[in-house]
Amino acid sequence: MDWFAAPHALLSHLPVATGLLLPWALLAAQRPGRGIRAWWTVSRYLGWLGLGGLLASLLSGFLSLSGLGLVPVHRIPLRLLGGSGPESLLLRHVLLGSGALLLGGAALWAMTRPRKEHQSLGLLALGLGLLWSLLLVLTGDNGHGLAHLQRRAATPPVPATVAVQAAPPVRVPTVVRDPEAQAPLRALDYAALQPVHPDPVKSLAHGGRWIRAWVSPEAAEVYRVGGTLPPGTLVVLSSQEDRWGRPGPEVGPLYALEIQAAGPSLTFYWPRVPAERSREVGGAARVYWRGGDAQLEACRTCHAAGLADPAKRSRWRPARRND
Ligand code: HEC
Repeated sequence: MDWFAAPHALLSHLPVATGLLLPWALLAAQRPGRGIRAWWTVSRYLGWLGLGGLLASLLSGFLSLSGLGLVPVHRIPLRLLGGSGPESLLLRHVLLGSGALLLGGAALWAMTRPRKEHQSLGLLALGLGLLWSLLLVLTGDNGHGLAHLQRRAATPPVPATVAVQAAPPVRVPTVVRDPEAQAPLRALDYAALQPVHPDPVKSLAHGGRWIRAWVSPEAAEVYRVGGTLPPGTLVVLSSQEDRWGRPGPEVGPLYALEIQAAGPSLTFYWPRVPAERSREVGGAARVYWRGGDAQLEACRTCHAAGLADPAKRSRWRPARRND
């Protein structure tokens, strides 16, 4: 399977070349008169080659999908069609490629219809063939974009070169202070991130509190569909305590997940635990657990891989009041 998936980039040159070559053969085959049969043959040969190549590319493409680390195609929502992220490119690529298969079948049928010896290949074959060629080239161009996006993401950034001109000696502080030693500053700035929930949802997994998720803007779409979050992503759940089945005025703890280079890292921050709830956190009045803290073990039952299972997300919103 690996062997077959790897040459997707190689195989896909066949349909793209067909898209570039076929229009000329089809145009040449439009002249009625003796000796035109040779151009029919050229067009049909290109048609079969293109369709065969397209089938092989589609198959190898689907087989190579799992290795890309992207969201499975059937889980990408259609509204991403116009976007510019990798998921959007992939969705367009798959739709264009499948469309090309359908149109390719139609074009080949039109090209192989029986014709009289002196006739041209026909306008129907020309029209369908040109459309098909266009779709093939577009699919190829799209795939090129997708492949280079992957590569760009894979290459480490080139360190900027700095011109050193007799710079005065700089004293580097030997102790690098941890700016988040006292409080999770970036998580506390969650309102600068992109909100996922317009209204709070009741999350039984997080103490039955009403939560809203906030995600780094560049990863918001990936979070929504439950894909693999890129390194550097910060997801924060802000929370409110429940009061009579609705979000109450009492602020709850902050839950944060950061995808660091070394892996996902969880944070639980509750700066002022109300006395009546301190039993939940072993009697503490203030809680700040992060990284490898043993107290986060309970969280890891659902967050072993970082992101919780998207299928288990809460959806329970308070009924809207229309007054
Ligand atoms: C019973 C399973 C469960 C436990 C235990 C749990 N979570 Fe979650 N967590 C979820 C689910 C499900 C979501 C999706 C949001 C929701 O509840 O709708 C989530 C969402 C989150 C998110 C947003 C990112 C994401 O995965 O969607 C953060 C951050 C988070 N939890 C942190 C924590 C922390 C910190 C703890 C421990 C104090 C914890 N969670 C305990 C199930 C759990």
